[in-house]
Amino acid sequence: MTQQKTQVNLRIPGPTPVPEDILAAVAHPMVNHRGKEFAGVINRTSEKLKDFFVTGQDVMILSCSGTGGLEAAVVNTLSPGDKVLAVSIGAFGDRLTTIAETYGAEIVAMPYEWGQAAHGDDVRKALKNAPDIKAVLITHNETSTGVTNPLAQIAEVVREFDKLLIVDAVSSLGAIPFEMDAWGIDCVVTGSQKGWMVPPGLAFASLSERGWKAYEQAKMPRFYFDLGTHRDAQAKGQTPFTPAMPIFFGLDIALERMALEGMEAIFTRHKKMGAMTREGVKRLGLELLCQDEHFASDTVTAVKCPEGIDVGKLRGMMEDDYNIVLAGGQGKLTGKIFRIGHLGLVHEDDIRETINALGETLTKLGHKS
Ligand SMILES: Cc1ncc(COP(=O)(O)O)c(C=O)c1O
Repeated sequence: MTQQKTQVNLRIPGPTPVPEDILAAVAHPMVNHRGKEFAGVINRTSEKLKDFFVTGQDVMILSCSGTGGLEAAVVNTLSPGDKVLAVSIGAFGDRLTTIAETYGAEIVAMPYEWGQAAHGDDVRKALKNAPDIKAVLITHNETSTGVTNPLAQIAEVVREFDKLLIVDAVSSLGAIPFEMDAWGIDCVVTGSQKGWMVPPGLAFASLSERGWKAYEQAKMPRFYFDLGTHRDAQAKGQTPFTPAMPIFFGLDIALERMALEGMEAIFTRHKKMGAMTREGVKRLGLELLCQDEHFASDTVTAVKCPEGIDVGKLRGMMEDDYNIVLAGGQGKLTGKIFRIGHLGLVHEDDIRETINALGETLTKLGHKS
C-alpha cells in the first residue's frame, strides 16, 4: 500500500522543497536513456543551464551529489604535486581542500574563522608569495556558516595572476548572481537539490577554455568523472553512463519554471528572503554567525543558539510542533548554531511562518529576548 505523504516545511539548505509539477515529472515512466525522448531532455536541460551559469561553455550534467561534482572539478584540472591555494571559510571549503589533498595536490591552506568571508587582498598576498601556485579553490556560498564570499572581486585577483579558479557554487548557483564567463571562473560545480528545486542526484559542472586546457594536462586519476567523456556523450544527447533519469525529468520542468520566473526575479526573491530572515531572527534577539552582514548569505542563515537553549531541543520542537525542519551546525559549530535555509522554492509566507514558530519555540524553551 502506498501512503500519500505531505511535504514538511523544509527550511534546511538542501534538499529544498520540490514543487508538485516537478515531483510529478520525477515519476515519469522510464524510457531508453539512449533514445530520442531522453536526448531531448539532455539537450534542453544542458542548454538552459548555460543561461544560469552565464556561459557559452558546455555545462555537463553528472549523476552524483555535489561532492561528486567537486571531485570532478579537482581531478579534471590538476595533477598530483600541483600547488593549490585552498581558501576555506567553513566545512565545505575544508571538504574541497580534502578532495584536492586526497588526490595528491600540495595544499597552501588559507583558513578563515568560521563566520568570516575571504578577502581578495589576502588572496593577492598569497599568490605573490608563492608564484608556483597553479590553482585557487574557493566556495562561493559557504552553507555551513551562511557566508557568501565576494567571488567577483576574488576572481579579479586570480585573473591578475592568471591562475586557475575552481569554484564550489553548490548552494549559490541558480539562486544568487553568478557569472562564469564575465568573472573568469575556470571550473564551477553546483548540485540539483539546492536552488534548482529538484531532488538530490545531479551535479552540474562547467569548464572555461583555460579549464579545458588544464584538463588536457591534468594527471590525477579519473574515469567516471572524466568531464571530456561527459562532454562528448552530451554532444550526442547522451551521458556516458546510465543517468539518474528521474532527476533529469524533474530538472527539465524546473528549468522551464525558472526561465518563466526569470533570473533577475529569482535573485531579487532570494535577496528579499535573506533580508527577511536576518531581520526576523534579529527581532527575536538572536545573533547571526556571519560577522559582517554585507557578506551574509541570501540562501542560508546561520544563527547562534542563545545561551541555555539546546539546539537539538529547539530543532525537535520546531519539527514536532510546527512541521518546520531547520538544520543544525556542522563540524565545530555542532550544538552552537542552527541554520535556516531559504533557497529554491521559498516565499515570504514561508519565512514569516518560520520566524513566528521560532519565536514561539524559544518562549516555550524559556528564552527571554
Ligand atoms: C557549498 C556546498 N558544497 C558542497 C556540498 C556537498 O553537496 P552534496 O551533499 O550534494 O554532496 C554542499 C551541500 O550542502 C554545499 O552546500
